[in-house]
Amino acid sequence: MTDLFLQNWQLLKNDQERSEFIYQALSRNEAPDNFSRLPPKFDRLLVENQAPADLLLKVQSIRKKRELKLEECLKSRTGFSYQKSWNQLTITDQRDECPELSNLMTDPDTYIQQGHIIKSGKATTVAIVTSGQKQYFIKRYNPKGFFYGLTRSLIPSRAAVTWHAAQLLESIGVPTARPVALLEKRWGPFKQDSYVIHEYLESIHAMKYFAEGAEPEPEWSTVAKAIDDILFTLKRSLIIHGDLKGQNFIIHQHQPLLIDLDSLCSYQSPSAFNKQYPKDLARFARNWKEEPLASAYFTPVINDLSKDIVDPSSL
Ligand SMILES: Nc1ncnc2c1ncn2[C@@H]1O[C@H](COP(=O)(O)OP(=O)(O)O)[C@@H](O)[C@H]1O
Ligand SMILES: [Mg+2]
Repeated sequence: MTDLFLQNWQLLKNDQERSEFIYQALSRNEAPDNFSRLPPKFDRLLVENQAPADLLLKVQSIRKKRELKLEECLKSRTGFSYQKSWNQLTITDQRDECPELSNLMTDPDTYIQQGHIIKSGKATTVAIVTSGQKQYFIKRYNPKGFFYGLTRSLIPSRAAVTWHAAQLLESIGVPTARPVALLEKRWGPFKQDSYVIHEYLESIHAMKYFAEGAEPEPEWSTVAKAIDDILFTLKRSLIIHGDLKGQNFIIHQHQPLLIDLDSLCSYQSPSAFNKQYPKDLARFARNWKEEPLASAYFTPVINDLSKDIVDPSSL
């Protein structure tokens, strides 16, 4: 039954058809489980078609339970190669295994030194590196001393947080730069440097893309709509990004992707999420304060997202 619902959904070509489908499904009293299988961005159509509030809550909570199952799937490591020794832990997405990637993983620091370093800070080093014919984007989370290593032996490394966050985003239809490998340098249970290697994407960040003086492109409204979809999906999924600045949206071939996921946190309860949300949304709103052109696209989005949680005048 569920399969048929999804199959029929996938045949739809545009929002007009999707809206009609949701309307029909609502009038048939379709099970919340079916709605929960659609990507969260389409919950908008549920709202537009006057879905009852308890259905929206039910759909959300079913997805949250499925999210816990995603954790179990990741633990069973289907699709990933996992290697652990006293000195390091590596996880590689099997779709990306190749000699270039294994070479990079055997000595990431040398590749970083020889690569194009974007940022070299206390906490992180970020670089675009070349291995053979391939380019990768790599981020190293530097250790913050012995005691930090001790605490990180109990909680996930920032690289592991990023890795899991990217898998979660993929499962709810939020585009991100795909991580291809995770590496943790270790001394037994103690974690030292950790790394995430991502696919490299020729891109510019949203602050440059929508900058005052940049040539407004016909794609601007489509890109803004896609950012709106990302933000809507995060809110419906009770996810706080933690640093929603424009530099953390990169635009690749006029498609926005959300990056920099090491503070991302997914909440189980709306009340816990609601406490953190004003800060996240305020950070996003701040991007456009001095950008009147972009502001025209994002102010309505921000006002809409504020509903029921944040007083827009406080942003
Ligand atoms: N996969 C990628 N491919 C190419 N460039 C990227 C990629 N990911 C990030 N960047 C660029 O690097 C910058 C910094 O990356 P980010 O992960 O946000 O690190 P930081 O912690 O320094 O903010 C981004 O603003 C973007 O311009
Ligand atoms: Mg960033």
